[in-house]
Amino acid sequence: MSARGREPAATRHKRGMTMAGSNAAMDVYLTGLRNQHAVETQAIGTIQNQLTHMQAYPDLHARMKTDKERSETQAARLDDLLARHGSAKSAAKEAVVGLVGTVAGFAHVGSDDDVIKNVLAATGYKAYEIASYKALSALAEAAGASEDKGVLEQSMKEEQEMGDWLGSHIPALVQAYLAQKAA
Ligand SMILES: [Fe+2]
Repeated sequence: MSARGREPAATRHKRGMTMAGSNAAMDVYLTGLRNQHAVETQAIGTIQNQLTHMQAYPDLHARMKTDKERSETQAARLDDLLARHGSAKSAAKEAVVGLVGTVAGFAHVGSDDDVIKNVLAATGYKAYEIASYKALSALAEAAGASEDKGVLEQSMKEEQEMGDWLGSHIPALVQAYLAQKAA
């Protein structure tokens, strides 16, 4: 075989590598969507458990209730994106234990009635989710699914709003907590 004869094979190989690269990005993206679905599912359960302990803090209670509803919408959006790429919805329901364990480090336990601890945990959780949606948006582009970015950025905006609200209300929540304790 001459060097010339090997050239097409090399070209084919190169093309194959490129395709493999693109498929790899899609694989990472789909895994990321499933991971974030697990994070949202975890958030829904955690907020549900915490809500009963937040009734003495009406503003916080209302915000957390909205955040739970938004988490349900965000999980449904992730399901839709997975379906769009031919990934079974049932696959999204698998718990991604390691990852959720990492984020759940922020979440503490739902039975904890220390509202400050829960607010700090929620703030950390939001920061994780903002970063996660930012990463998913970049992965969507790398995987050739730029059309997914709008919905991912909508979820990111919602996380940002909640994170900002929590951040700006920490002093007031501390005051409310101390007033409750003194009562
Ligand atoms: Fe969320």
